[in-house]
Amino acid sequence: MFFPTYRARRIRGRDVFRRMVRETVLSVDDLIYPMFVTYGRGVRTEISSMPGIHQQSVENIVAEAGQVHELGIPAVLLFGIPETKDAVGSSAFQETGVVQEAVREIKKNVPGLAVITDVCMCEYTAHGHCGLIRGGDVDNDATLELLCKEALSHARAGADMVAPSDMMDGRVGAIREALDSNGFTAIPIMSYAVKYASGYYGPFREAADSAPRFGDRRSYQMDPANRLEAIREASMDVEEGADILMVKPGLPYLDIVREVRNEFNLPLAVYNVSGEYSMVKAAALNGWIDEERVVMETMIALKRAGADLILTYHARDVAEILRKGW
Ligand code: PBG
Ligand code: ZN
Repeated sequence: MFFPTYRARRIRGRDVFRRMVRETVLSVDDLIYPMFVTYGRGVRTEISSMPGIHQQSVENIVAEAGQVHELGIPAVLLFGIPETKDAVGSSAFQETGVVQEAVREIKKNVPGLAVITDVCMCEYTAHGHCGLIRGGDVDNDATLELLCKEALSHARAGADMVAPSDMMDGRVGAIREALDSNGFTAIPIMSYAVKYASGYYGPFREAADSAPRFGDRRSYQMDPANRLEAIREASMDVEEGADILMVKPGLPYLDIVREVRNEFNLPLAVYNVSGEYSMVKAAALNGWIDEERVVMETMIALKRAGADLILTYHARDVAEILRKGW
């Protein structure tokens, strides 16, 4: 293509042409909104590092879930902040746990909204790690049993889908087997297949009160330097029965999103995590960037990289922007 025979600007010069040749499309159907449910009543506490995002007790979660549904967003992802934490995270699989309660109430009051539950131990363990601690490290195989109990109790409460985020080896297969042998063959697993040990989770740990009390998560979450390992992680989960794969975080790992998209034919989700959200919000609040523009550009970038679904704290804003046009 040589100038002046070809002029790239010809097809770019008019809005109607730009619309016609646009390659990447973002729809409200692509969005999943994460929410933090806490114990008590009448609670609605803003997370200081995540303006616009709150820890809420069940009745407030249900109210916001109704608004999310009205905006046309198909699904929410629930995280729980329990009243008590212990060494084995037993409140993760109580029938009366915060997530179980929230699932039941959302399904009763907003039945058209899909409820996905995050399956992990770090919000429920006193030490803040994603599994059972033995000898100073997380014991993989012992943790699998806890995750299965947690996933099952979410399914019993009425969860539409479960999303394990712990990064133990073999958890997708173990959870699939636990669900199937208890009659939940129709419940899909969205696997946090490729999850990096990331500084971008900082604000989330305030939101979910899940910071590890000692050490870090590098013995189970992935090294940010690794690309081939992402393929190995994803292929394990595919073979173990994952229905949707996820890459996390989003923007710093767009190459990995593309890699996984090219390698596998399962639906692919990307998690635009708390730190990514906080940075945009902080800059916008300072008047340093145009929030709407930057948020929409971020969403398009995640889709262009190959994601089908986007988990994002911006979901409500994005749905409103899509509705009014941009
Ligand atoms: C728990 C979990 C984390 C996130 C989702 N599930 C934190 C972590 O692994 O430390 C991060 C989400 C976010 O930062 O928005 N395992
Ligand atoms: Zn965890």
